[in-house]
Amino acid sequence: MTTTLKKLITLLRDGEFHSGEQLGKSLGLTRSGIWKLIQQFPAWDIFVESITNKGYRIPQGLTLLEKEKILPFLTHHPLPQKIDIQIFDTLPSTNDYLLNIAKEKTDKCVICLAEKQTSGKGRRGRTWTSPFAKNIYLSILWHFPKDACELSGLSLAISLAVVETLKIYGIKHPVGLKWPNDVLWNNQKLAGILVELSGETHSICSSVIGVGLNVNMSNTKGEPIPAEWADVQMLSDNPVNRNELTGVLLNELIKTLTVFQNQGFSAFIEKWKSFDLVAGKQVSVLTPTAVFQGIGRGIDERGLFLLEDETGALKSFSSGEVSVRLHPNPLL
Ligand code: BTN
Repeated sequence: MTTTLKKLITLLRDGEFHSGEQLGKSLGLTRSGIWKLIQQFPAWDIFVESITNKGYRIPQGLTLLEKEKILPFLTHHPLPQKIDIQIFDTLPSTNDYLLNIAKEKTDKCVICLAEKQTSGKGRRGRTWTSPFAKNIYLSILWHFPKDACELSGLSLAISLAVVETLKIYGIKHPVGLKWPNDVLWNNQKLAGILVELSGETHSICSSVIGVGLNVNMSNTKGEPIPAEWADVQMLSDNPVNRNELTGVLLNELIKTLTVFQNQGFSAFIEKWKSFDLVAGKQVSVLTPTAVFQGIGRGIDERGLFLLEDETGALKSFSSGEVSVRLHPNPLL
């Protein structure tokens, strides 16, 4: 995104009308220069209303992420690692960006946020829809003095940090977790987590923890979001402030990573059970090669999923390529 385009978005983010002439004066451009820039807005998923004699406006306005508004929320001390926060207008994927940094063998913890992702990644090769300035797309590069096998419950612990964030932010609606780490409200997906390990050297395991939290999924024209999705805005009575929510989320994530680093998954297991939406339910477990049917029996001490089959035997699954489907009708 060019600096001039960013400045124009910044002027229009208040949701009020601004005349082409006024905008031109502020940016040192002609009215037609402004018009040309406005033509680029749809490519950034921004809907602009244009009315003769009034000018341009972004209905409802938009909030842009600002480091100075996020940093005051990071109150968790002491921080176990040096932290660097980077915010981008657009990236292919915040996870991929940090996986590349990890290759350079930095020992810093890097936090990366993007307003838009052009190739946002979900679990199991899916894409993560990431329109500009609507939701939260963030990744953290964190170095654990642990073996990779000790990180199996990490993404479950991270999903609890998201649940805690929503509570702190004042969301009263009950949210739950579907193993391994889908945060759901009313069976609709509110957030997803993608943990990728970038390699182990000298018993340090570097991991990239990606979180996508839907804040305002409604598309640019305000049409309703697809039924399988939920966003924080639909659970909140007031307009959601993405900077505040990002600040609370980052603070909870850093807290969680610190506890996980010191105590491992055992510190989270009881809490995770209290949000488990699958325990006791009829489910299918899909692996790349087979489908297993049975009843969800929670998780073990490492965070592996437990399935009881029709013979009463327990089978455990690690998250990798596995997906759990809840049967809407328990008789199916
Ligand atoms: C899932 O539920 O399938 C996981 C979704 C993870 C999405 C986040 S958005 C920030 C980070 N960057 C990515 O490319 N993916 C994760």
